Amino acid sequence: MSAREAAVTVRVPAKVNVQLAVGAARPDGFHDLANVFLAVSLFDEVTATAADALTVTCEGPDADKVPLDRTNLAARAAEILAARNGLSPLVHLHIAKNIPVAGGMAGGSADGAAALLACDALWGLNTSRAELLDICAELGSDVPFSLVGGAALGTGRGEVLTPVAAGSFHWVFAVADGGLSTPAVFREFDRLTADVVVPEPQASPALLAALASGEARELAGVLANDLQAAALSLRPSLADTLAAGTGAGALAALVSGSGPTTAFLVADEESAAKVAAALEASGTCRATRVATSPARGATVLPT
Ligand code: C5P
Repeated sequence: MSAREAAVTVRVPAKVNVQLAVGAARPDGFHDLANVFLAVSLFDEVTATAADALTVTCEGPDADKVPLDRTNLAARAAEILAARNGLSPLVHLHIAKNIPVAGGMAGGSADGAAALLACDALWGLNTSRAELLDICAELGSDVPFSLVGGAALGTGRGEVLTPVAAGSFHWVFAVADGGLSTPAVFREFDRLTADVVVPEPQASPALLAALASGEARELAGVLANDLQAAALSLRPSLADTLAAGTGAGALAALVSGSGPTTAFLVADEESAAKVAAALEASGTCRATRVATSPARGATVLPT
């Protein structure tokens, strides 16, 4: 690649958490996590083009739900990278969005990581991987994983990553009507656990072994999300979605991250199509998506 490109497009995956162990609230308001991230084959693409000012546009089925101002993590990424290099963020960022919005699949985080990589290439900065990861952590707890992809254990508030082994799996995702606020779900977790001693979050050895094995039935027995009770408490109807998926033959069902998207582990492609069709027919979700894991992290596409 030449030092500067006229336009750079980065493809970036969504994620599901196969284990989300949540500790007690920290003094800074965040929660320590043992967060096993898995990148799945639902992708956004972010294209960075030189412009007179920082602007963001978006296309895709959920485009009307994407903020186009400076609260968009793609815009924030461009601003932070520019500021660290004494530049002005003169870039147009176009997001081709396929990841469900406000869904617990790290769609906003994905766009932040993608924009960062795209601007780095557009401006010919060759920022080190370590600094890119540092900026990602500044953008949000899930953003470093969007850059890295594959499968990883996130500790701290989720931003300290250790790669883990993962075989391949098939998934169905059910997209709910409306979003759920991540801070609100964490607050509900605090409320629900107010009278108990919350243990230190630990990665489950059984889960990591099942993930590495590629055996869907093994993984189905150990999937765990400590935010699920909180998400269900705020959105009780998600229980109907979970039941519809397992009733149609999913091996396991869980809330994805802080929700409201729900994730269904299935045996194979055929089962994925069957479960997706049953979920659509059930009337308990707005849409479904079928995907496989793991998927590559943020990647510059060839021009
Ligand atoms: O890091 P990020 O900006 O994505 O986090 C959004 C919100 O989710 C935080 O403001 C916090 O309320 C909650 N959160 C948390 N503990 C984490 C990650 C996120 O409490 N480890």
